[in-house]
Amino acid sequence: MKISVTKLEYNNCAWECSAGHPRFSWVLEAEGQRQRQSAYRILVATSAALLAQEEPDLWDSGKVESEQSVFVPYAGADYASQRVCWWKVKVWDQDGQESAWSEAGSWFQGGPESWQGRWIGRTAEPGANGLLPSPYIRREFILGQSVKRAVIYATALGLYELRLNGQRVTDALFLPGWTDYNVRTQVQAFDVSGLLQAGENALGVILGTGWYAGYVGMNGKNIYGDQPQLLVQLEVELADGTYEILATDERWRTAIGPIHYSDLIKGETFDASAEWAGWDRPGFLEDGWQAAELFPDYKGELVVQAEPPIRVTEERRSVKTTVTADGASVLDMGQNMVGWARLNLATEPGDEITVRYAEMLNEDGTLYTANLRKAEQVNRYIARGGENEQLEPHFTFHGFRYIELSGYRGELTEDSVIGLVVHSDMQRTGSLETSDPMVNRLFQNIVWGLRGNYLSVPTDCPQRDERLGWTGDAQIFVRTASYIMNVSRFFHKYMIDITDTQQPNGAFPDVAPDGGWLKFKETINWFASHNAGWGDAGVVIPWTMYLAYGDRAILERHYDSMAAWIDYLKEESDGLLGDDRANYGDWLSIAADTPKDVLATAYFAYSTKLMAKIAGVLGKEADQQRYVQLFNEIAQAFTTAYVDAEGHIKGDTQTVYVLALYFGLLDGELHGKAAARLKQRIADNDGHLSTGFLGVGYLLPALSDNGMQDIAYSLLHKDTFPSWLYSVKHGATTIWERWDGWTDHNGFQDPHMNSFNHYSLGSVGEWMFRYMLGIEADEQQPGFKHAVIRPQPGGKLSHARGTYDTPYGRYAVRWEQRGGQLELEVTVPVNATATVHLPGKALKLPALAELAVATGNTAYGSVGAGEEQAARSVEASRSYDIGSGVYRFVCAWE
Ligand code: BGC
Repeated sequence: MKISVTKLEYNNCAWECSAGHPRFSWVLEAEGQRQRQSAYRILVATSAALLAQEEPDLWDSGKVESEQSVFVPYAGADYASQRVCWWKVKVWDQDGQESAWSEAGSWFQGGPESWQGRWIGRTAEPGANGLLPSPYIRREFILGQSVKRAVIYATALGLYELRLNGQRVTDALFLPGWTDYNVRTQVQAFDVSGLLQAGENALGVILGTGWYAGYVGMNGKNIYGDQPQLLVQLEVELADGTYEILATDERWRTAIGPIHYSDLIKGETFDASAEWAGWDRPGFLEDGWQAAELFPDYKGELVVQAEPPIRVTEERRSVKTTVTADGASVLDMGQNMVGWARLNLATEPGDEITVRYAEMLNEDGTLYTANLRKAEQVNRYIARGGENEQLEPHFTFHGFRYIELSGYRGELTEDSVIGLVVHSDMQRTGSLETSDPMVNRLFQNIVWGLRGNYLSVPTDCPQRDERLGWTGDAQIFVRTASYIMNVSRFFHKYMIDITDTQQPNGAFPDVAPDGGWLKFKETINWFASHNAGWGDAGVVIPWTMYLAYGDRAILERHYDSMAAWIDYLKEESDGLLGDDRANYGDWLSIAADTPKDVLATAYFAYSTKLMAKIAGVLGKEADQQRYVQLFNEIAQAFTTAYVDAEGHIKGDTQTVYVLALYFGLLDGELHGKAAARLKQRIADNDGHLSTGFLGVGYLLPALSDNGMQDIAYSLLHKDTFPSWLYSVKHGATTIWERWDGWTDHNGFQDPHMNSFNHYSLGSVGEWMFRYMLGIEADEQQPGFKHAVIRPQPGGKLSHARGTYDTPYGRYAVRWEQRGGQLELEVTVPVNATATVHLPGKALKLPALAELAVATGNTAYGSVGAGEEQAARSVEASRSYDIGSGVYRFVCAWE
């Protein structure tokens, strides 16, 4: 098979283009081995027809001799006035063979050339619980001709659901997403050509308070504003080529309707019997509706939506139903999940049905809700009445495994209650499976942790009155996440949230977007900012995006912010040592309090080390040297202040050693002694871990890096408290916030801090991919243009296999022990290379012509078949350079 382009958008060209920063990426396929691209040609045109005829009126890159297939920058004519652009690409392989053209990709502008509408809404009186009802908004209009093309641009301060002629315009949810609305708000653009008709049309919108004016976290409501507001602009190109624009103004009509309140944290009450039939279609009588209220112009910036859309990604049915003493039905969904229930019920008008959600059950089978704190996971409905009435909430979500239904008089069938799984919808990129079902369940729990907590921003938990973008949680899990899903765009957006919330003194926040600390600073007596391991997210995340996706632009964009953070840390330090900048410590560690100054100094060093690498990537040599020197000075200060001649570190917790080893803070001899001490400290703890959020992420990597693979595996396999498999043994289907969240160990944990869906302790997923499977990035050729494949089998596992879809395509590793041998199969995508390090002496190699001894990153090197000398060295080596394709090795393994 000739080389072919199979996928255009791993890195979201369509979004980047509409945001005005076009970069093109594509994935290639070809049979055989060592296949690569030697050249490409990109065409960009203003219409599909021109593109098809190969008449690109915006850009013809010409044949460019280059291997680059990820983030190729646009260099054509200004396309700002175009509503839609089309592109395609072809490539040449290493032998000059030409591919066919790819299919056509397209994008349309993410925002209008100019906004012509006003912000509208309807000031409403809060209900008894202080929550606002949802305004309904509508506008009828007539189109004189049929429609050639129509695009609608919409956004809200709050949340909006947009409907055209009776249909939802998009399946995306929680629009426009969460940003710091004081600074920026995202705008969505939808192609609605197919929803409009010549003649009468109607637009309908429901507004929710969302993060803007509803409850956020534990700090209260109205964090950004008081009343939800809407801005919409519909641009229609009619059959004769003329344009019509319809934008929000006082001619739009509003009414307060059936949603008494719908709040992210407080749930929803919806009177379906009061919803007007046909309100979102033409010809509706607007009885009692009023002219929309005009709101002042928005002071922040309106930006193209950066984040991936939030959607329902799965529907689940219950595995078991029980009935409580009060007669309520409790459905077990078999999985702790995030979203809500869609009801399909046979109702009588006025039936009152209540749905409650919880992650656990009390012993009597009722819902355990103590851990929700002030959150209310309740949906109340008043039925319209019907054979099959569908009821679901509008602007709220819940974290739950159990759903309680009360007030329903009919029989429940398997379709009566459907659990909807909701999160930011990203391409799934990583799979992993081993011979141990407990480890497999742990991995699935990690995946569910991501699915349950990546909703517009990476949150800590989805159930209690928190659900905030805690940066510490985000940074410790980001590398794991990058293996499981394509989080490139998600973190591009989140880094903007982080820098929007950065303080003028350079401190990165502990929570982004702000969760009320700015608004309520008079009454909250602490400010969520600058904590060690939290604020450092501002450096760790961009670096991780660079490693995983090869995204240099994210480093460029945030360079000054990151530099300001390092300056801040230096300024705040006491002779380079941390002060009290670690209020959360090694959060939720087990009887092992890592001294705060040690933690703060270690993270200061780590951020500085990454900053030196970042400066290097961007070619800022003077900065690089300055940061290298600063790192050395911090490491020296750390050693002098905290490390004795035996390599014992102040605090003597597992975490102090893990951080010192993983961050490279100690010189040779002390490093070895500290590694030995870590081993001892684990032994002292009866072979168990004691790390909290910060130590846990690097615990197994630090062990594996220092020749203690056996201990890493023994920690992985432990199922006694505290360990990863302890929760699995107790039936966990997600990662718990605490090592002993719900067990017979201590009785129930403090319900105020007892989430069953907190991904931080799941950061061990990173080790599973990077060490167990051994699929590691190469800083010199990021984005997995070149990978280091270094599988590290061990523990009780007889086999492990996994796949990882990178910007170049799919890597796969499979290893299996048989007797004293280990079979290893490695797959590398087209246009990428890998260096394979065998864990044992080679017994059987792929054809020599396909291999070369690894000498750094000799791309595509191979030995001449006739060269005996080279062949011998290939056989004697344990490291091999390979190109694309599938390679099978057998090595000795005890
Ligand atoms: C959150 C954590 C967060 C922490 C800061 C908690 O309430 O749930 O995940 O990182 O506060 O220590």
